[in-house]
Amino acid sequence: MKFVLNLLALAGLCVAAPSPQLEQHANKVTVAERAVWPNGPLVTSGRWIHDASGANVTYAGANWPGAADVMIPEGLQYQSIATIVGKIKSLGMNAVRLTFAIQMVDEIYANGGKDITLQTAFTQALGQANGVKVLNQVLAKNPSFTASTTRLQVFDAVAAELAKQQIYVHLDNHISKGMWCCSTDDGNSWWGDKYFNITNWTRGLAYMADHGKSWTGLTSVGLRNEPREPTSNSALSKSTYNWESWYKYIKLGAEAVHSKNPDLLIFLSGLSYDTYLTPVVRGTALTPGTGKFSFGDFPGYANKLVLEIHNYDNGATSCSSLQSSLTNNGFQAHGGGAGVNVFPVMLTEFGFQMDASTWKGVYASCLASFLPAQKAGWFIWVLAGSYYIRSGTQDYEEGWGLLTHDWSAWRSPSYVNGALLSMVKNTLS
Ligand SMILES: *[C@@H]1O[C@H](CO)[C@@H](O)[C@H](O)[C@H]1NC(C)=O
Ligand SMILES: *[C@@H]1O[C@H](CO)[C@@H](O)[C@H](O)[C@H]1NC(C)=O
Ligand SMILES: *[C@@H]1O[C@H](CO)[C@@H](O)[C@H](O)[C@H]1NC(C)=O
Repeated sequence: MKFVLNLLALAGLCVAAPSPQLEQHANKVTVAERAVWPNGPLVTSGRWIHDASGANVTYAGANWPGAADVMIPEGLQYQSIATIVGKIKSLGMNAVRLTFAIQMVDEIYANGGKDITLQTAFTQALGQANGVKVLNQVLAKNPSFTASTTRLQVFDAVAAELAKQQIYVHLDNHISKGMWCCSTDDGNSWWGDKYFNITNWTRGLAYMADHGKSWTGLTSVGLRNEPREPTSNSALSKSTYNWESWYKYIKLGAEAVHSKNPDLLIFLSGLSYDTYLTPVVRGTALTPGTGKFSFGDFPGYANKLVLEIHNYDNGATSCSSLQSSLTNNGFQAHGGGAGVNVFPVMLTEFGFQMDASTWKGVYASCLASFLPAQKAGWFIWVLAGSYYIRSGTQDYEEGWGLLTHDWSAWRSPSYVNGALLSMVKNTLS
C-alpha cells in the first residue's frame, strides 16, 4: 500500500444500472453443489464472477501481508493461525488477499528446490537475537511448527486453515524483494527495475500457481501489486513505463499463471500504484503504441480476467467525486456501454487510521456504501496490527490495522460494529 494522490480523476461518467437480463438467471443451486466449497473453478461472466454452480461470488475481505523481509504471513508471534482466521471469519468476511514476495521463490530455486527454514528466515530478517526470540514466540503460538518448518509450509498452513473456515485465498504477488512496499524508488517498481527481474517474476508466479493447486481455497492470483514509475531509473522509465509495455508484461504473467493452473482467476492491476485501468476499460490505445486491450489475447481464458484497483484518496471531501473517480479509474467496466470492456472490478486495497472517528469521514463512509451498492469485491488494508519488521523497525505498530498490536482484538471496535460488519454483509448479500 502507499498513499497516492489521485490526479487521474476525470469528472462526469455514471455507471449504468445492471442489465435486467441478468435477473433472469434464477439461482438454482442444489444442496450437493453448495456442499463442495469453494465450488470452483471460478469464472467471469461479464461483470460477475460465478462459481461452478453459476452462483455469483465476490470477495469481502482483508489484506494479510506476507511479503515483507521475513516473507511469511504476519502476526504469528502473537496468535495462532486458527485464531487469526477465526477473527476474519467473525466479521463475516469470505476472502483474504495473501501477499508474497518473488524473492521467496528465488530462494527456493537457489536452494535446490527447498525453501529456507523459519529459523533462517527470522534470523536473516531480524538478526540473530531478535530472530530467535520471535521464532520462539511463533512456535509457542503455533506449536505444529518447528524451527525447520519452511516459509512455504507456513503459507500452506495458512491456506489450509482458511479453507477449513471456508475463506477464499486471493494470492497476491506484492513485490519482488521481500520488504515493505511500495515506493517509486524501491527497486521493485516496474518490470526491469533493480529487483524486478522479469524472468524471476514469471517463474515465481508459475511456481506459486502450481504449488497453490494443493490449496483448496485458492481461487485467484494478482499478477503484481501497484505497478509504478521507476523514478530511480530514468532510462527504464522513459523506455517502458507505459501502457504498451504494461500489456506485454501482463500477458507474460497471465500466461505463466494460466499454463500452470488454469483454474485461477487472474487479477490485472494498473499504472500509478494501480490507481487506474482506464485505457483497458475504455478500449483506447495502449500508448505509445496503437494496439488495444483484447480478450482475444488471452486465448481460452478470457473468462478468467478480473480488474483490481487501489484507492487511498483519504482526504476526499465529496463522495460523488470519489465515486466518479472510482468509476473512471476502473468501475466503469461494470456498466458496459459503447466500446467499454466489461470485467468484474475489485478494490483490492483501501484503508485508513483505525481510531474512533476516521471511519465516519467521507472517504471511509463513501466506500462503505459504494462497494456494496456495486456488489464489488474488496480487501481492506490491513488486517495486521503490527509487522515483524517494516522499513527497518521491528515489531512495527500498524495504526491502520484492523487488529491491535498483538492481534488479539479490534483496534477500532466502533468501526467494526458501526460500519465494517454491515459493509461485509451488504456486499455478500
Ligand atoms: C448476480 O447478482 C446480480 C445482482 O444482484 C443479479 O442480477 C444476478 O441475477 C446474479 N446472478 C446470478 C447467477 O445469481
Ligand atoms: C533471480 O533469481 C536468482 C535465483 O534463482 C537470484 O540469484 C537473482 O538474484 C534473482 N534476480 C533478482 C533481480 O532478484
Ligand atoms: C534475470 O534473471 C535471469 C535468471 O533468473 C537472468 O538470466 C537474466 O539475465 C536476468 N535479467 C536481467 C535483466 O538481469
